[in-house]
Amino acid sequence: MQIEPIKQKCALLMRDVCKQLEAIHIDQLERKWIAISMLVIGLFVGIITIDAFFHGVNPPSKVETIDSASLHLNKEFAEDNLGVQADDKGNITVRMVAGRYSFFPKHISVPAETTLTFRWVSMDVLHGVHIPMTNMSTMIVPGYVAEITTTFPKPGEYPVLCNEYCGLGHNHMWSNISVIAKEDWTAPAKSPVKGGSNNE
Ligand code: CUA
Repeated sequence: MQIEPIKQKCALLMRDVCKQLEAIHIDQLERKWIAISMLVIGLFVGIITIDAFFHGVNPPSKVETIDSASLHLNKEFAEDNLGVQADDKGNITVRMVAGRYSFFPKHISVPAETTLTFRWVSMDVLHGVHIPMTNMSTMIVPGYVAEITTTFPKPGEYPVLCNEYCGLGHNHMWSNISVIAKEDWTAPAKSPVKGGSNNE
């Protein structure tokens, strides 16, 4: 394909458009509203940018698949491996399974002011998880692992809510997480499981 003629055509077209725009009369009031709309758009883009870079609010960028039908046979998400685990370096990983209509394990305790990596999977249909006052708000899509890094700002009971309609019991699908002061928390005595391949 010839590039040069296309370039020339584009340039001509742009010139025409610019000329026409110049010829359009824009009212003073209209100009003001254009400016206000631009400011509002700028504000929203600014908020999204600040949230993304300083509050860790990001869409999941990593695609990790898992067989939702055989989680019980899966190394990482077998029943014994669920819940809170700390590795030798002190990194804390929380593995949770969502299923109609609860989050498993039913109850966990985690330390406040500590970076926690949550790994969520669904055993059946699409669920969501939302923990107010944190950046935790994600879909839990069957067949995929949803990994979110979060920090609980202060000790207390935090509600965990399903925010994707998943069936008749959806509005009963919630539980809570006990967040304990950092110095009072001790890691549960369990051998850490290795991550990695899930579909063996
Ligand atoms: Cu699970 Cu709604």
